[in-house]
Amino acid sequence: MTQTYTQAPISAAEFFAGRSYTQASAPGRVNLLGEHTDYNDGFMLPIATPQRTTVSMAIGDEPGFRFYSATLGSEARFGGGGGDSNNPGEDAPTGFARYIFGCIRLLGERGVAVPGLRVHVDSNVPLGTGLSSSAALEVATLRALRSLLAVELDDVALALLAQQAEIQYAGVNCGVMDQMASSLADAENMLFLDARTLATRILPLPAAAEIIVIDSGVARTLEASKYNERRAECERAASMLGVPALRDVVDVDAVEALPEPLRQRARHVVSEDLRVLDAIGGVSAAHFGQLMSASHASLRDDYEVSIGALDSLVALLCATDGVHGARLTGAGFGGACVALCRKGAAADIGASVVKRFNAGGGSAGLLLPYSAIH
Ligand code: GLA
Repeated sequence: MTQTYTQAPISAAEFFAGRSYTQASAPGRVNLLGEHTDYNDGFMLPIATPQRTTVSMAIGDEPGFRFYSATLGSEARFGGGGGDSNNPGEDAPTGFARYIFGCIRLLGERGVAVPGLRVHVDSNVPLGTGLSSSAALEVATLRALRSLLAVELDDVALALLAQQAEIQYAGVNCGVMDQMASSLADAENMLFLDARTLATRILPLPAAAEIIVIDSGVARTLEASKYNERRAECERAASMLGVPALRDVVDVDAVEALPEPLRQRARHVVSEDLRVLDAIGGVSAAHFGQLMSASHASLRDDYEVSIGALDSLVALLCATDGVHGARLTGAGFGGACVALCRKGAAADIGASVVKRFNAGGGSAGLLLPYSAIH
């Protein structure tokens, strides 16, 4: 693979230089409730980000692949020696290109003949903050491939393929939430997802409420190793309780006999599933906010995936008038938090909390102006 960089971003029109191309896009996601439940076959409530990743694609007139990211100003070329998706030639791509290549390769394994391609990526989904920019890239890539090559693939099958691209080509042993949310959610409603059956329901946000998302400014560290450790702990807990997955434990007290830290880990997952099931009953914004704050406490104390900066931001948010509740969102160990606020108040609350947090030496930033779209 050869990788080159451009000074100024190149637009899709410039990149394709007069050729026609297919374009598709997909959003990132913010999880409102139900964290670390997907790989336990449980329940969750993500919503799509208004920000999206756009993938433009055309069949190349030379063999091999050229992937360009306008966001990173970086181009990867590989497979030029007559390679196709099953024979990329030289070494497999790295960086942003591996997500695209993973999607192509997986379609190839399913019998789709993928020719040499030119791919242009542009995105305003925040990178590295836990809002699933990688799922957005995978889902947008598969949508573009589906339409360019007329592949029959429904949105759930597409999400599962995107998840496999993440697991097999980016090396992250993730659950199914991010890709399902990117494939099926919109930025106005919550997507209720059952990770076992993959059944989904679109639900309205609590009445008179809106969302803000604040990046803690702390990069996610330890995420991969601790994520895998938590997954293993959950599997051990389920096996000791004699159930296929923690989703099958419906009584929180049932976990009390487990040894530590399995008792704490299982208590988070079982109580988190119950919070999601409570939240989908059309509850008030105040009640939904309490569930979010309880989720944060559980992630901090029982699941131990929070960090000081996220705890401080959540505490500042919860002490602010107009905030119904707040929690970390995503895997934890850094990244962003989400709050449910009184409708119309989110932008001011976000700006004032970020200012107060940063006055204490932090480097938080407001990520999602959800208010702009409601
Ligand atoms: C990451 C994973 C998801 C999910 C969350 C935690 O975002 O990719 O599958 O497990 O963490 O809820």
